[in-house]
Amino acid sequence: MQKFLIHGGKKLNGTINVECAKNAYLPILASTILCEEEIVLKNCPDFTDIKNMIIILENLGITVYKKDDELHINGAEASFCFIPSELAKVLRSSIFALGALLGRFKKAKVAYPGGCDIGLRPIDLHLKGLKDLGVKIVECHGYINCDASEMKGGLVHLDYPSVGATENLIMAGVLNSGTTTIVNCAKEPEIVDLQNFLNNLGAKITGAGTDTIVITGVKKLHGGSWTPISDRIIAGTFLIATAMAGGEVEICNVIPQHFSSLIDKLQKSGCKIEQKDDKIFVVCNSRLESVGFLETMPYPGFPTDLQAQMLALQTVCKGSSLIQENLFETRFKFVPELIKMGANVKVNQRTAYINGVDKLFGADVYSTDLRGGVALVLAGLCAQGYTTVHDIYHIDRGYAFIEKTLSSLGANIQRID
Ligand code: EPZ
Repeated sequence: MQKFLIHGGKKLNGTINVECAKNAYLPILASTILCEEEIVLKNCPDFTDIKNMIIILENLGITVYKKDDELHINGAEASFCFIPSELAKVLRSSIFALGALLGRFKKAKVAYPGGCDIGLRPIDLHLKGLKDLGVKIVECHGYINCDASEMKGGLVHLDYPSVGATENLIMAGVLNSGTTTIVNCAKEPEIVDLQNFLNNLGAKITGAGTDTIVITGVKKLHGGSWTPISDRIIAGTFLIATAMAGGEVEICNVIPQHFSSLIDKLQKSGCKIEQKDDKIFVVCNSRLESVGFLETMPYPGFPTDLQAQMLALQTVCKGSSLIQENLFETRFKFVPELIKMGANVKVNQRTAYINGVDKLFGADVYSTDLRGGVALVLAGLCAQGYTTVHDIYHIDRGYAFIEKTLSSLGANIQRID
């Protein structure tokens, strides 16, 4: 199993580019099931989650080939509407295919999804919404059997603004008869990107980015090309990496307003951050003040996907802080690994209490999930001595060779077998 060997203490200096967003690319890939003509997706990042979503599409009879960093996708020959557990369990976004399969084929049999071990991650909101649109669903033996022969437009009121449920219901509505309205939906930028992508293919969707989305069903979609938005979580990760290791980094191909909640917190802690168009410039050469209190919320609140990285930063800030994780019930699993490095953190259910220490010390640590794993890498950058981060396959799901990007900024990090 590969691991990262990090020799801490090196500052980060230089310029990096941020890839397209994993959490935009994945629903967009799932939504290509709805289209029977060629689609070209540009700037495809080298994330394992994307590779695994492509395998799911190919398993449905969709042709996908990569030409440089472009994905050429054609769903004309798609005919299967079955996703076996060995494919579905590999990633959360396998469930996003359900809405698209029902929109295209009016039936589907999919296994329960997998994804990061950060909570129970039920799909009740997805299924309740589809039932509200007339889909008949039978769950048995770990499979979700759906009959959408009588699916039609209607009103779905989400009990919680679930990102995945919102995206699934958008896809179910695109080729649906009538109008589908989703109330109390998620407002993440990746949902706006999904709307814009599908409208570019001839769909009729309005309201993404607000709490009500309306989809007017159309007969068919035509082909087209698209470049998904920049990954706000990767951008935020490198902002926090610079805050922890110190240095001066320019981060290009970003949309600063998509992570303004983080920028605000870091500036208040003492980071110098300037924004210009699609670039952000961060300078940090002194120990930061702690954030005090932070809680994760649905967008535009502080993103849960930056919680682990922010917690790692707090372990070396001046003062104490409290972080409340409101979205996922077990998203502090990486904390014991930080404690091995000398962090002073206490966790009680969804609340972490952090007392900043002068320094962390290198240790053998184990990734527990994608963002918890990258938080350990950030800790290793500023720890004294050597840190080995194991189980880095978690990290590769959402970062493309992060060791190369960090090395280009001056970090001493290498991938070893
Ligand atoms: C998406 O997951 C992202 N994944 C997650 O990113 C992100 O953390 C999350 O949204 C929140 O922003 C992708 O887009 C592929 P949710 P999703 O449905 O759709 C509960 C990363 O690190 N819930 O908004 O699964 C759920 O348990 C990943 O890139 C239900 O109760 O998130 C959670 O507590 C991790 N029933 C809350 O809602 C449901 O049917 C938010 O989940 C669905 C969700």
